[in-house]
Amino acid sequence: MPSNAPLFDPITIGAFEAPNRIFMAPLTRSRSEAKTNEQTGLHALYYAQRAGAGLIVGEATQISQQGQGYAWTPGIFTDAQVESWKPVTDAVHNAGGRIFCQLWHVGAISHPVFQPDGGKPVSASAWTPEGEAFVGDRHEDGPQVPFEEARALRTDEIPGLLDEFRHAAKCAAAAGFDGVEIHCANNYLVDQFIRSATNDRDDEYGGSLDNRLRLMCEIVDTVCEVLPANRVGVRLSPQGGPGGTEDANPGETYPAAAKALAGRGLAYLHVVRPNSHTGDGKDEGGDRIVHDMRAAFDGPFIANGNFQPDEAAKWISDGHADAVTFGRLFLANPDLPTRIAQDGPYNEPDEDTFYGGDAEGYTDYPSLEKVDDPLPA
Ligand SMILES: Cc1cc2nc3c(=O)[nH]c(=O)nc-3n(C[C@H](O)[C@H](O)[C@H](O)COP(=O)(O)O)c2cc1C
Repeated sequence: MPSNAPLFDPITIGAFEAPNRIFMAPLTRSRSEAKTNEQTGLHALYYAQRAGAGLIVGEATQISQQGQGYAWTPGIFTDAQVESWKPVTDAVHNAGGRIFCQLWHVGAISHPVFQPDGGKPVSASAWTPEGEAFVGDRHEDGPQVPFEEARALRTDEIPGLLDEFRHAAKCAAAAGFDGVEIHCANNYLVDQFIRSATNDRDDEYGGSLDNRLRLMCEIVDTVCEVLPANRVGVRLSPQGGPGGTEDANPGETYPAAAKALAGRGLAYLHVVRPNSHTGDGKDEGGDRIVHDMRAAFDGPFIANGNFQPDEAAKWISDGHADAVTFGRLFLANPDLPTRIAQDGPYNEPDEDTFYGGDAEGYTDYPSLEKVDDPLPA
């Protein structure tokens, strides 16, 4: 039996059956319409090419204008955005696949040029992320400009934020997604509430660990009011993401977050382990935290972060995960399951075309067999 065989065991994930455990990680590619944040026919082809994944977790998609932090990322809150996603979800379904929408609010990792009132981005507390915002053509000094200070969300603004998540979840269902993944990872808004470094609030959303986890739990429960829990997943990361801040005690915080999510019948928990792309790679205990998170959660568990197929297969056979998402490997290898089944060869990802641009570096990575354009011109 080939060593990668565990990756090809079918599995039930919430409401659907996945034919394999080779899932596609969410990948921002910054190719949506600049002003309207709508998807195009290019996205339909890109995702259809990757429909062999057991599950596609679509690129991070803002739930509101306030939630945008990068140029050319898609939204899922206007009628036109919903319409623009329909050909994408149809193309994936027609190619035999399943796709979730990753619901995203960047919090402080934004810039006034994206904010509806031109004001400060919001976060758990006032702080200024390290580094630069990717603003594209929205700023005369662009495409990258230094982050500015975010302001603390007021307690009385949180019900409105929950309404925006509820609305986006409804929009995702209307757009034909099979479910949603709530983005609580990588130091974006929900993670800014979870991490001690960015949360010094003194209301019920700050202070104790339970309080820092409250926003995540309330968002999950709000989304589960409009979608069945078995179509709702959550992504967490004990480390990494933009902005340069960390939690003081991730070994306690993130297993507690996983435990707080248990008991709801969620589709899955998806965890990014500390890795060279999203983490600083210094956390020797990274895998241990992820194993503790699996033990604390009661549903399907998806691991991610610098996995090669053989290590992914071993994690599954050792019981550390039920499925593994691949980011850069899926980006460069549209037919990744076919390639893993025959042990390669693999295309190399081209970092220069990760963010922004057109078909180059997006839909032109070769498959072993050609996939027809679902929306021919
Ligand atoms: C181009 C690129 C875009 C990404 N966009 C997202 C995103 O939209 N949402 C998210 O949660 N993670 C995002 N990530 C992180 C990936 O999902 C994943 O955690 C990371 O690439 C590590 O997995 P890998 O080693 O299999 O690539 C992105 C990573 C890359 C390389």
